[in-house]
Amino acid sequence: MDHFAYRDGTLHAESVPLARIADAAGTPCYVYSRATLERHYRVLAEALAAVDPTICFAVKANGNLAVIRTLALLGAGADVVSGGELKLALAAGIPASRVVFSGVGKTRTEIAEALAAGVMQLNVESEPELEAVAAVAESMGRRAPVAIRVNPDVDALTHASISTGRGEHKFGIEWTAAHAVYGRAAAMPSLELVGLAMHIGSQVTDAAPFRAAFARMRDLVMMLRADGHVVRSVDLGGGLGIPYDDAAVTLAPADYAAIVNEGVGDLDCRVIIEPGRMLVANAGVLLSRVIYVKQGATRTFVIVDAAMNDLMRPALYGAHHAIVPVAEPGAGESRETVAVVGPVCETTDTFAENVALPPVASGDLLAFRTAGAYAAVMAGTYNARDLVGEAMVDGDAFAIVRRRLAVTELLGHQVIPEWLASAEEPPPIAAAGGAR
Ligand code: LLP
Repeated sequence: MDHFAYRDGTLHAESVPLARIADAAGTPCYVYSRATLERHYRVLAEALAAVDPTICFAVKANGNLAVIRTLALLGAGADVVSGGELKLALAAGIPASRVVFSGVGKTRTEIAEALAAGVMQLNVESEPELEAVAAVAESMGRRAPVAIRVNPDVDALTHASISTGRGEHKFGIEWTAAHAVYGRAAAMPSLELVGLAMHIGSQVTDAAPFRAAFARMRDLVMMLRADGHVVRSVDLGGGLGIPYDDAAVTLAPADYAAIVNEGVGDLDCRVIIEPGRMLVANAGVLLSRVIYVKQGATRTFVIVDAAMNDLMRPALYGAHHAIVPVAEPGAGESRETVAVVGPVCETTDTFAENVALPPVASGDLLAFRTAGAYAAVMAGTYNARDLVGEAMVDGDAFAIVRRRLAVTELLGHQVIPEWLASAEEPPPIAAAGGAR
């Protein structure tokens, strides 16, 4: 459930009409609902109450400080994958003691930053990384809290690009080698082995992959303990899928919780989870205005002012985001099947090939639903477009929580080298048919 609904004929975020935000912030603009973020966090925490997990929000899903802060105030920790994300989490008020540092390519600088900040654990994904963490910790005179990320070789049955738990993927240490690596790591004096970690993929809507992966994790914990190793925590990663449209079949938080319970509930371990999408996706929409309605040779194009640089998921993964008009359609209003596209000069800049919309005209507002996760955070400035802005609603108030970054502000980072600047101006182009 979310807090975006039609009221008095117009789409609202909580008690704020989206049109008001479009007027104040311009379009395209992301809009988040604080009440929806809070609701999703609570639903997940309550469903998992029996294992009382440490919920580490995967900051990669939404790096907006106001969003992270909303979750921090509810008690969330953070899962970060770069020094930049670590800084975001800390700036939003998440204590370092609730931060997990994941990722296959942590640099020595990032490792040092994480240790200096005092993160809860670094999830190590390879033996070279283990050695790097040990060396950095030793040079700092510290013991690094480390979990071994295991690759359980389980197919998450999700989109290939966001699947991470098969042997062929770059993530984690193969589960058959994890026991030996754990043993080697436990013998390194500058490391403190705290447990195991895993993450099999994102937008997982099937119970079986979670079950299989948690079972592998459980077996490993048993084997390690039988050999005298200390395993205090298991980090189950994120991945819980969400409905991108009303008809979608997904795994409910309560079902996921039952699988977690069954898998690791009796291990007497601290359970960590790293949800991203489930907490934030349905708490955001992307607001956009129609620029033109164009009759093409074979179909109608609704050309909007948002583009693939603002919301990359459809272009990158063929992802579906429901598109709805901000003005509520009348009960019996006719619909036309149209393609909704952005202005970027690529055919893949298409948000929907066939969507049934009521008649829309230049200047009308549309909302792209379920745009709180992997959306603003993946935006760029391709085609020299501004970096999209973000707003947050709280009841009847709203604030701009990231102002649009004009691409001209980025021009200040570009340099024409002296040897080009001082070069002569290009020769004038001879007029056609001019004198020889
Ligand atoms: N933990 C780790 C180690 C991860 O790599 C991820 C996501 C998560 C947690 C959070 O997963 P979630 O609960 O959000 O499924 N850009 C893609 C999604 C990439 C996910 C990457 N890793 C998309 O737009 O669908």
